[in-house]
Amino acid sequence: QATETLGIVGGGTVGGGIVEILEKNRDLFTKMTGKEINVARLAVRDLGKARDFDTPATTVVSDNFEDILADGSIDTVVEVMGGTSLAKDVVIKSLKSGKNVVTANKALIADCLVEIENTVNEVNANRAEGEKPVEFRYEAAVCGGIPIISSLQGDFVGDEITMCTGIINGCTNYMLTEMDKNGLSYDESLQGASELGYAEADPTLDVGGFDARSKLKILMRLAFGIDVEEDEISCKGIPELTKEDFEYAAMLGGTIKLTGVAKKISDSDVAAFVSPTYLDNSDTLASISGATNAVEIQSKNLVRSTYTGQGAGRYPTANSCINDIIKVARGDINPLPFNSKGPGTLKFVNDFKSK
Ligand code: NDP
Ligand code: HSE
Repeated sequence: QATETLGIVGGGTVGGGIVEILEKNRDLFTKMTGKEINVARLAVRDLGKARDFDTPATTVVSDNFEDILADGSIDTVVEVMGGTSLAKDVVIKSLKSGKNVVTANKALIADCLVEIENTVNEVNANRAEGEKPVEFRYEAAVCGGIPIISSLQGDFVGDEITMCTGIINGCTNYMLTEMDKNGLSYDESLQGASELGYAEADPTLDVGGFDARSKLKILMRLAFGIDVEEDEISCKGIPELTKEDFEYAAMLGGTIKLTGVAKKISDSDVAAFVSPTYLDNSDTLASISGATNAVEIQSKNLVRSTYTGQGAGRYPTANSCINDIIKVARGDINPLPFNSKGPGTLKFVNDFKSK
């Protein structure tokens, strides 16, 4: 039996979900890929910590991720440790040593996607003839369980995207829903979001709009082929919103949502922002409540497509990583950033006056 040998860096919320789903579907995945998928190694920070999932008896657990990088039998490294500096090391070193990489790390992708893509291209350009190219996938990095990355990499290849609008932060959408529908104050709703595990370790990233901006940056790379510095994108968060703002919006027949928008405003220019915006109740995005995420793509052929689902949490996020792992095990072709007009044809402008 052929094998796909995995090393997982991180055994927390997402890592635990990946191990569980792999174990539960072992036979099915072997049938689907023609390979037995084994987690040979798992790296965590604290070996003494109790885990809320079972590790297979054959998996070697260590507190040193270098063990995974040094293990020549590992085909694919799954990076679910988070952070940017060590995680970047894990990803780049793994690719350079010929290992495939699957990651859920939105901060890393927002910071380093182009550098990682360049590494993948360099490594593959130097592969010997007949040698399998390395694969790099990051479906879980934007909107957790929603397959928005593969949709943007695949479904729009013959299309032209003109606008991408999203509710792409679950924590703030939960808060705004509570303020709007249940009359909670800002502080009460933030406390609820934190207790339910939606908030980042530093919730300023959520309420300030910065987490949404990281995700919008990644979506812009995929939808428009543009690599923009995050801090160039105008970003306004939700701390100034009050219960009264929702009452005013309701009077007008709508609500307020923290939205990330990237829009083609001319043949060459794309503008983008993250901000609380008024949405009429007839707008599909106005009905997205709680921690749910949604991304609406407007394009020439498909006109309007909306992707909605769970943007965070153990199983939705692990599900996306599993799909990536299966694609890598099957040897699906490495997807490139999508922009139907070719790389470098569109540019980012911080200007909304045109349209
Ligand atoms: P957790 O904090 O739950 O898990 C992180 C894991 O990484 C822990 O097991 C930790 O070990 C381990 N770890 C941290 N540092 C090291 C290190 N230096 N060496 C070895 N192991 C280390 O994070 P999540 O699972 O929630 O998130 C993982 C990634 O997935 C992040 O990039 C996050 O942004 C992304 N993501 C998460 C979502 C979610 O809903 N949770 C949604 C979408 C993306 P220990 O357990 O011993 O502390
Ligand atoms: N804090 C993030 C959110 C978690 O609320 O969307 C998933 O990226």
